[in-house]
Amino acid sequence: MKVLVTGGAGYIGSHTALELLHAGHEVVVIDNLCNSSLESLKRVELLTNKTITFYQVDIRDGDEISNVLAQHPDINATIHFAALKAVGESTQIPLKYYQNNVYGTLTLLEALQKAKITNFVFSSSATVYGEEAPVPYVETLKTGIPSSAYGKSKLMIEQILSDLVKSDPSFKVACLRYFNPIGAHESGMIGEDPNGIPNNLMPFVAQVAVGKRDKLSIFGNDYPTNDGTCERDYLHVVDLAHGHVKALEWLEKQSNGICEAFNLGTGNPLSVLEIVNEFSKVTNVNIPYEYAPQREGDLPAFWANADKAKVELNWTADKSLEDMMKDTWHWQSSNPQGYGK
Ligand code: NAD
Ligand code: WQD
Repeated sequence: MKVLVTGGAGYIGSHTALELLHAGHEVVVIDNLCNSSLESLKRVELLTNKTITFYQVDIRDGDEISNVLAQHPDINATIHFAALKAVGESTQIPLKYYQNNVYGTLTLLEALQKAKITNFVFSSSATVYGEEAPVPYVETLKTGIPSSAYGKSKLMIEQILSDLVKSDPSFKVACLRYFNPIGAHESGMIGEDPNGIPNNLMPFVAQVAVGKRDKLSIFGNDYPTNDGTCERDYLHVVDLAHGHVKALEWLEKQSNGICEAFNLGTGNPLSVLEIVNEFSKVTNVNIPYEYAPQREGDLPAFWANADKAKVELNWTADKSLEDMMKDTWHWQSSNPQGYGK
């Protein structure tokens, strides 16, 4: 297969590009590099000894996307990662998020529809279950109302995709609802490289470990959980990348006019303290931390029921928590400045 990967230079996109190449597929990436560096894809090429076709294109530019598609009339499917993802910023600047994520996706879909490229995998998020859903989250639950503009942009796109499929049954869509991806490729050559102060737990822990930050603030120790800190379903990014390859294979086998959501998680909740302790145990690096007030919008605990992905996609998250910690540290300690972007 030849696969168009939007946002392919980013954290999950670069790991997925690598797995696609390993699986024997060709990869065409479009990315505007607003939150990534071309270095990630150069390293994927080194690791696989294969080439990636790259275009610095913004998904809000329909003409540019159509130009790329015209040069590759043999593209069979799209994996759509390109989005802004900072939850806090999305609350402060919602229009930027709706413009980039929702308008960008509409523009991409119009170009794909014109070019008749209708197998589509979308990077969705567990956040679409909203704040009231019972745990574990299962795909048969109705979606809720995400608290952030970022989360709402993901839900809106899922709804747009559902309407698109109803109106144009040549489309086949898988919405992959990720839980908390962490870790890095075992080579230590590619990984997560956030700009500025990390919003997410794992890159923050890794930057404390490497000496870039003094200590971790744990947001809340008074939640109704075993140790009082929040619980999440952390999965290895390489497992997540495999999930995309499985979803593409699944789409190939479907009849037209399908739009299905799949949870991608391990099904096991872990607390912030468990993550911090496991990281120290695996790496022998102490992580100084202090308790800080709860972060606005954080839910006490959520995790996936991942049975549907297992049954229908033949996918499970196989890597261990130890792998997640070891690989995070391998990446961060070998690349203290990330890609140096
Ligand atoms: P990332 O920021 O590393 O990757 C996103 C990529 O999209 C970046 O390379 C960025 O430059 C690119 N991009 C953004 N806007 C663009 C635009 N207008 N045109 C072209 N390229 C653009 O983020 P990631 O963690 O790899 O996330 C990938 C996808 O997965 C996103 O859609 C994100 O919302 C979703 N997701 C991520 C997580 C997570 O915890 N990382 C969880 C659930 C869902
Ligand atoms: C995990 C836990 C924090 C940082 C977010 C998005 C979600 C999805 C994944 C895209 C929480 C705690 C964190 C820190 C801490 N992204 N924490 N100190 O919030 O579960 O999910 O990323 O779709 O939509 O909301 O992930 O990594 O930010 O936090 O104590 O410095 O770590 O309170 O309990 P989250 P996270």
